Amino acid sequence: MKRPFLALLLLAGISFSLSAQDVYVAEGRFCAGDDTAWAAPGFDDSAWQILGFEKDWSLQGIDLTNGFGWYRLHVVIPSSLKKGVTDKLLLDLGPIDDTDETFLNGVLVGKTGRDGTDPAGFYEMWEEPRRYVVDPGLVNWDGENVIAVRVYNGAGEGGFYAGAARIGKPVLSDFVTMTVKRTPNSFETVFSSLTKTQGTLEVVVEDVFTNKETSHETRTVKLSPKKETRLGRATGQNTRVRVKYSDSRFGEELAEIFSMPYILTPKAPATPRYNGPLVFGVRPGSPVIFRLAFSGERPMVFDAEGLPEGVVLNPEDGVLGGSVSEAGDYPVVFTATNALGSASVEFTLKVGETIALTPPMGWNSWNCWGTSVSQEKVMASAAALVNRGLADYGYSYINIDDAWEADERAADGSILTNSKFPDMKALGDWLHSRGLRLGIYSSPGDLTCGGYLGTLGHEAQDAATWNEWGVDYLKYDWCGYSKVYNAQNDHSTASYVRPYLKMQEYLRQQPRDIFYSLCQYGMAEVWTWGHAVDANSWRTTGDISDTWESVRTIGFALQKELYPYAGPGHWNDPDMLVVGKVGWGERLHDSRLTPDEQYSHISLWSLLASNMLIGCPIDQIDDFTFNLLCNNEVNAVNQDILGRQARCLVEEDGFQIWARELSDGGTAVGIFNLNEDAAPVDLAGCLAKIGIEGVDTVRDLWRQQDIPMGTYVIAPHGVRYVKVR
Ligand code: GLA
Repeated sequence: MKRPFLALLLLAGISFSLSAQDVYVAEGRFCAGDDTAWAAPGFDDSAWQILGFEKDWSLQGIDLTNGFGWYRLHVVIPSSLKKGVTDKLLLDLGPIDDTDETFLNGVLVGKTGRDGTDPAGFYEMWEEPRRYVVDPGLVNWDGENVIAVRVYNGAGEGGFYAGAARIGKPVLSDFVTMTVKRTPNSFETVFSSLTKTQGTLEVVVEDVFTNKETSHETRTVKLSPKKETRLGRATGQNTRVRVKYSDSRFGEELAEIFSMPYILTPKAPATPRYNGPLVFGVRPGSPVIFRLAFSGERPMVFDAEGLPEGVVLNPEDGVLGGSVSEAGDYPVVFTATNALGSASVEFTLKVGETIALTPPMGWNSWNCWGTSVSQEKVMASAAALVNRGLADYGYSYINIDDAWEADERAADGSILTNSKFPDMKALGDWLHSRGLRLGIYSSPGDLTCGGYLGTLGHEAQDAATWNEWGVDYLKYDWCGYSKVYNAQNDHSTASYVRPYLKMQEYLRQQPRDIFYSLCQYGMAEVWTWGHAVDANSWRTTGDISDTWESVRTIGFALQKELYPYAGPGHWNDPDMLVVGKVGWGERLHDSRLTPDEQYSHISLWSLLASNMLIGCPIDQIDDFTFNLLCNNEVNAVNQDILGRQARCLVEEDGFQIWARELSDGGTAVGIFNLNEDAAPVDLAGCLAKIGIEGVDTVRDLWRQQDIPMGTYVIAPHGVRYVKVR
């Protein structure tokens, strides 16, 4: 959100109003730490420093993660703001990184997110705009008021960052929230209101496949602060719903368009089918950990022709083991057979220095469990990866994110697990015996983002420990290293490279392949040097969350220029998937992305050759989420051995067309509608814009059908994802 910046009007943290209209505050007094006394209006903060709201606090010299800092805004609120449709006042603070509690003249008026001390677990809401409606009785009209904001920063940047705070009159959406709760066959529009008001609700239902209206109704809705109003309705599956509430008192509208979960991926055949990557890279002498990704009815038997010496295949579960000492390309034919038939695949085992020849696929604990992760939860997801059939699509990494670390190291300095992870080596063995791989998380700093022990000063020792545990993937997260960085005067690219180079050396000394995942949010254009520290992937942005705003920014805006940097062995990482149940802590919720947005998210990540790390508990996966993650044709684009990342070739009228060249000479094309309304697109016209002409049919990857040229309606925030042969 862009806000006017009225720096000239601001002196020493006191703001003045520009007119009888809204008041803007572009800076405030700041102090690191935490003290409830700081909420009081009379507290003397004159010794506090002044920070602006245009930039986060780390860009203003404050090094503060995993902790609290307070802002105090001094503001004269003119009585001209007293009368709107209601007598309430709005504090519109913009987004705050990561969580806040806001006090007006000593009284708590709003809270967003859960800070790091919350027993339910840290839940960051750094991108959520804070709009707090307050009672006029709390305001010192025409005099000085103090807005005190207690901020918790869990990782990376912290505090205000998006511009001036605004004090003004609230609008309808500040009083009335309209949320839609969905089940697979019905939905409920739930209203809650801070004021008495009324309006009309219009509900239009359309078929997602034909885009024809199937029903249209209007009714009067009366809202009051005393009760929630719920209006339920059954819809068939495969429907799109438009809900519009028009309020007669405010003269404003609230609208939502959403689809019911609709499944496009055809059911896999019961006969064997190979769905995995066509190559696998392993270094000479390193253990081969690979599970053949065949779907189909079990029992199934597996066979291989042409396996190099030293590699063995378990015929019952398709798990490869052993190692190869000689570098070289080994062509192998794998065959899977069940009662209904058999299928074979030509595959290449590439023994050489480059690993991660296709982007990593697997699971990571962070987006679901946050710091509440435990060995039990990890094993539940790992078991489900096999039992629910996701391993038959190539998902193989089981990555434990932050919060496995003990509070202190052992006497000899080695890193220990906390009580939630009683035996990491046993967990590693258990995963390997299933052909799955173990991933772990740490930081080059003294502390991780979650405040756990990092590797600083123990790099060699930790790499050796991880090898003993059987770690196959390391996510190495900058976080606590910012202290080292800030303490030195060197802010060159080399100072960003240094900690990652150091760990690289120790990782390469281990007798196993460890996928090296850099996590430093894209600083110093990491994509330009990540391969030089032997990184297999690097995060390109800050953390993702399960909102369209986040997916749109991270995926559709920030990845556009990064295609030259991806290729076999090293990938851009726009962060983990936010489909299924997420929550970053004990409490999970269904992804807030609509079904159409989820199709777009997965389509784009497949085009981008991104890491495909599932962020929901696999044992709780529903059919819709399975359909998103286990479409073999969609995943084949992500895993294509050419490793070309898609480019955004067209951007017009709110549409983006991304295309990616494939190893079989085909092109994968995603036509994305970033608008708020469904819109028809002429397929041939779209292809012509990217230089593809003279084709009669293309493959619809989600539906796995050949479709003719013609006009196709694309849902709001939705996609048509095709392959041109
Ligand atoms: C950072 C990373 C996240 C996650 C947390 C763990 O925020 O970007 O992906 O690893 O740290 O604390």
